[in-house]
Amino acid sequence: MKDILRVDQLGYRIDNTTILHNINVGLQKGQFALITGPSGCGKSTLLKIIASLITPTSGSVIFEGQDIKNISPETYRQQVSYCAQTPALFGDTVYDNLAFPWQIRRQKPDEAKLIDDLSRFSLPAETLKKSINELSGGEKQRVSLIRNLQFLPKILLLDEITSALDESNKQQVNEIIHRMVAQENISVLWVTHDENEIRHADDVIRLPANGAEIKEAEHERA
Ligand SMILES: Nc1ncnc2c1ncn2[C@@H]1O[C@H](COP(=O)(O)OP(=O)(O)O)[C@@H](O)[C@H]1O
Ligand SMILES: [Mg+2]
Repeated sequence: MKDILRVDQLGYRIDNTTILHNINVGLQKGQFALITGPSGCGKSTLLKIIASLITPTSGSVIFEGQDIKNISPETYRQQVSYCAQTPALFGDTVYDNLAFPWQIRRQKPDEAKLIDDLSRFSLPAETLKKSINELSGGEKQRVSLIRNLQFLPKILLLDEITSALDESNKQQVNEIIHRMVAQENISVLWVTHDENEIRHADDVIRLPANGAEIKEAEHERA
């Protein structure tokens, strides 16, 4: 089957230090893949390159057969959505954040849907009017995820999004993402350390500690 995303001989160096070396990853439509590996091995760097936030020093990222350096960032980001390890919220309120994906598509935010989405992630309706400065780390992470899910992307890139969540919210986020993969056929590339999450993936990609090369054959089946 043809991959929706391919990472091809990807490398990243800063100041003569190799962060990533010859990384090869293939992701299929509807596939749920995890990336794991020791702290500092380059997981976040790899995800940011795939999100087109930083440029690789060698190799390429191919989305639907096209090198992403030839795709406009706006077009790409509507299809490949990235949730950072430390979520970046903007504006004043939660509403500002959840309305944003609607506004860039010149659509009026559906407030009933926003409230419904908040409740699916155990956040009360009043959260919509809250200042982003009043939110806990776990609440910020869930708001950021809800913002990314207002219009379903083809690929969801998630960087340790459950590490600030308690056990019950962690489970809930896991269930929602797994359900989306099953029902909407989106692909997920999820960076995690959580052994529980690792057990439930289709495919686990382990990055080595020393920037060594990774071939696709080294993936393990979960
Ligand atoms: N902008 C940067 N400048 C210098 N070093 C960086 C930069 N970004 C990341 N690194 C280094 O690259 C390595 C990989 O970082 P990162 O991708 O955040 O790892 P992980 O997410 O696996 O913990 C680390 O050694 C980190 O210190
Ligand atoms: Mg990281």
